[in-house]
Amino acid sequence: MDNRKTRILVVDDEEIVRESMAGWLEKDGYTVATAPDGPTAVERLRAEPWSILLVDLKMPGMDGLGVLEEARKLRPDAVVVIMTAYATVDTAVTAMKMGAFDYLVKPFDPEELSLLTQKIVAQQALARENILLRKVLKREYRFRDLLSNSPKMHAVFDLARVAARSHSTILVQGESGTGKELLARAIHVESPRSTGPFVAVSCAALTETLLESELFGHEKGAFTGAVSRRKGKFEAAHGGTLFLDEIGDVSPKLQLDLLRVLEERRFSRVGGTESIQVDVRIIAATNRDLKKALEDGRFREDLYYRLNVIPITLPPLRQRREDLPLLVEHFLEHLGVELGRKLEAVSAEGMRLLTAHDWPGNVRELRNVLERAAVVASGPILDVADLGLLEVHTEERQGSEGLASLEEVERRHIAEVLRRTGGNVSHAARILGIDRVTLYSKIKRYELRKEPESGT
Ligand SMILES: Nc1ncnc2c1ncn2[C@@H]1O[C@H](COP(=O)(O)OP(=O)(O)OP(=O)(O)O)[C@@H](O)[C@H]1O
Ligand SMILES: [Mg+2]
Repeated sequence: MDNRKTRILVVDDEEIVRESMAGWLEKDGYTVATAPDGPTAVERLRAEPWSILLVDLKMPGMDGLGVLEEARKLRPDAVVVIMTAYATVDTAVTAMKMGAFDYLVKPFDPEELSLLTQKIVAQQALARENILLRKVLKREYRFRDLLSNSPKMHAVFDLARVAARSHSTILVQGESGTGKELLARAIHVESPRSTGPFVAVSCAALTETLLESELFGHEKGAFTGAVSRRKGKFEAAHGGTLFLDEIGDVSPKLQLDLLRVLEERRFSRVGGTESIQVDVRIIAATNRDLKKALEDGRFREDLYYRLNVIPITLPPLRQRREDLPLLVEHFLEHLGVELGRKLEAVSAEGMRLLTAHDWPGNVRELRNVLERAAVVASGPILDVADLGLLEVHTEERQGSEGLASLEEVERRHIAEVLRRTGGNVSHAARILGIDRVTLYSKIKRYELRKEPESGT
């Protein structure tokens, strides 16, 4: 280590002490400056960075403890050593309590000073290394844009990293808002196909005919309105990744078409005869229980096995509550930039509420809750009132007796959100972080009546 990078400030009212100490330290190769009194020292502290401060305790005007106090504020990283000719236990303890690193009893010899500074420099190097190490570790908390602190998610990241290197089809399952699309994109970026396109198709958004032409393209005149030939998403994704989102919603006819493409890696455009071959890696995703859809005969078993080559399941947020602090920090940082405001944290009580909440809309719901809270909060700390979450199950948290089931909590939470939004399903769905269709099905399942829009 190059000692010149260690900047030491000697503060003493006696010139002879300043001069001799500076001489000794310079001989060890450090960069040294001196100050004859407290105010001059504080001025230099403000102006330049320092690694070590050697401060005399007794000085006229501002004493050593005063300088120490200022140093803690101005240069919290700098190490302060108090020098005193009157080594009483009291002053030493006070100095240490105030954050001094050590104290030297005057008179001391060059050897003693040299050893102490070496010790400090070594510890500072270690502290720097720790910060670096923590940064490296933090990087392991993420897979591209996905962050997590939970072992369950780390297992998912490991699997995804391995899967990314292969060309196999991947089936991502998980509740709404758990990060399925984010994961699919991350896998693409980590794969050898990253220079190729990533093409996403939502299979739930279109009618059967439209989805068919969206996926496979069509020839001119294939159907009314097909005024020209159009390439489909399979062709667009050539050399890259095709993300088939909400695959559980695909109609039986299209399930058969997809099965053929997966088996033969070729297809023809709607209304065409030419057989087209493409090189695409397929990642499919669904928030439905596909196993159940198989049993009910709504999803083809052969297609399921073609898709389920590498299954990856994202756990819901309520099963990894340890992710909350990390995700909160992450979203607050982003929201702060977006809103041009400093957002520091969620209050302790607020965090308690977030931890108790059930998150039916998972990470997306969390982001929405924080976004709304950030907008209504007046300061940099988001508090309980800003979060707008409801303490629906306080009584159940007391003991295991009378604990509510997840479904019961979800039912009550949805009922309360509907009540507060005056039965506005779109608004309620946004707050819950789920889509309207999902909310309608839950309203039906839980037999919740929508509150009327007004008091009628
Ligand atoms: N682990 C995570 N770290 C950071 N952000 C996340 C994480 N998981 C999800 N998000 C964010 O949450 C939101 C929802 O994620 P995404 O759209 O990938 O969910 P999804 O599973 O596809 O949901 P849906 O089934 O409703 O389509 C996005 O804004 C995404 O950036
Ligand atoms: Mg999605």
